[in-house]
Amino acid sequence: MSVHLSGRLSLENAPVINTSIPGPKSKQYLEIQDRLETSSRSYTGFFKFAIDYGKGSTVVDLDGNVFIDWFAGVSVMNLGHGHPAVLQALRGQIDRITHITEVPTEARINYLKKLNSLLPGKMRDNSKIFMTVSGADACEAAVSLARYNSKKPTIIAFSGSYHGIAGGIVGATSNFHYREFAGFASQNYVYAPYPYAYRYPGNVSREDISKDVIGRIEEMIRDPYSGVPPVGGIIVEPVQGEGGYIVPPDDFLPMLRETCDDHSIPLIIDEVQSGIGRTGKVWASEYQNVTPDIMCISKSIGGGIPISSIAYRKDFDQIPKAFHLGTYRGNPLGLAAGAAVLDIVKEDSFLQRVRSKGKYVLERFEEIQEKSSIIGEARGRGFMIAAEIVKNKKDKSPGTELAGAVRDSMFQKGVLMHTCGHYGNTMRFMAPLTIEDDLLEKGISIFEESIRETEVRS
Ligand SMILES: Cc1ncc(COP(=O)(O)O)c(C=O)c1O
Repeated sequence: MSVHLSGRLSLENAPVINTSIPGPKSKQYLEIQDRLETSSRSYTGFFKFAIDYGKGSTVVDLDGNVFIDWFAGVSVMNLGHGHPAVLQALRGQIDRITHITEVPTEARINYLKKLNSLLPGKMRDNSKIFMTVSGADACEAAVSLARYNSKKPTIIAFSGSYHGIAGGIVGATSNFHYREFAGFASQNYVYAPYPYAYRYPGNVSREDISKDVIGRIEEMIRDPYSGVPPVGGIIVEPVQGEGGYIVPPDDFLPMLRETCDDHSIPLIIDEVQSGIGRTGKVWASEYQNVTPDIMCISKSIGGGIPISSIAYRKDFDQIPKAFHLGTYRGNPLGLAAGAAVLDIVKEDSFLQRVRSKGKYVLERFEEIQEKSSIIGEARGRGFMIAAEIVKNKKDKSPGTELAGAVRDSMFQKGVLMHTCGHYGNTMRFMAPLTIEDDLLEKGISIFEESIRETEVRS
């Protein structure tokens, strides 16, 4: 049996809450952080504790309270905290070298070979890899590469998209909040609606949504009076992450691929959140057998060490030296961890478990939804599962504060569950893919309890 399934990775009997939250020791750290670190923090506004250590799908705070982690550091810890294979890879690397820009090391070569051999469809063993540092950096490089190859300025992104907050790529991130004061927010982005069936505007039936979206995109590209300058790339999340864990209809990506082919437009698939086994395949785009021209990879690939990459078609490689730079691209620790992560998530038994457990969690969320007055829709694929919270089911008015209350209630009971969505009103399940069954069950019971309590109070 492979390393990921042999033996328990998490602490037993979680959650264990013995103090008020935050406990006294956590409070001290939070106070120091408040004094010394920027007030522009988000997560410490609702996860008010200080961490001692993490193990599998559990984290322990400074006061000894044990939490079930359905947060995974925003979908980074796909293998959980301190996975033995990742630790072994890190220990093997740390005494050798921890930074040297671009020069090949064993870790780099291993990573390059392994990643290439796991790429989707026609990309497999037939691509070039570009090392980057974060998700935003990868998306930034992807867009530059698309523009360089197409020689056209405009990038189509989607409503609800999130591709990061760095320089130019923030332009592809749909929420204006992130762009308003960005140092350089490029004007070269336009947005098409994402096929978000629960809130798709107009009277388009679920079956026709992809056609409607693609029709709008075709019009942007073809019509000289569309107002859209020539389109040099389309960037899409195969399952939307920050936008609300939205799974598009199955015909959407293939239709988008066809449009890109018809107009020779590079298709960038952003697998930063949906990749590395998160949806039950190594890449979410594999569900529709769609091959990107450029793919963005980050978050869980480094097992908690910040690395990212783009993979792209070989014929896009006619680019100048130093096309996109960064000192820290391809950190050896991250690459060593990355090779270990890939070895695990590629296994059929691992992916099969993510699919079957994900299906189970979704079914349980659907049961809870049926009995609940505030869950408008439960949806998802693999371990990207959402419960969209509404004030009432009829008019679907977003229950942003209610979602915050559910998150707070779960936190007090010892489960970390975060929100996402256009209005921050969607509860999202993004636990480590290695989570044990008992932690799923306990988490689901606590989720249900917190929904009930919030409903009663609303
Ligand atoms: C799909 C997607 N792309 C890009 C990013 C940006 O990644 P980072 O926060 O590492 O810059 C994110 C982050 O959540 C993401 O979900």
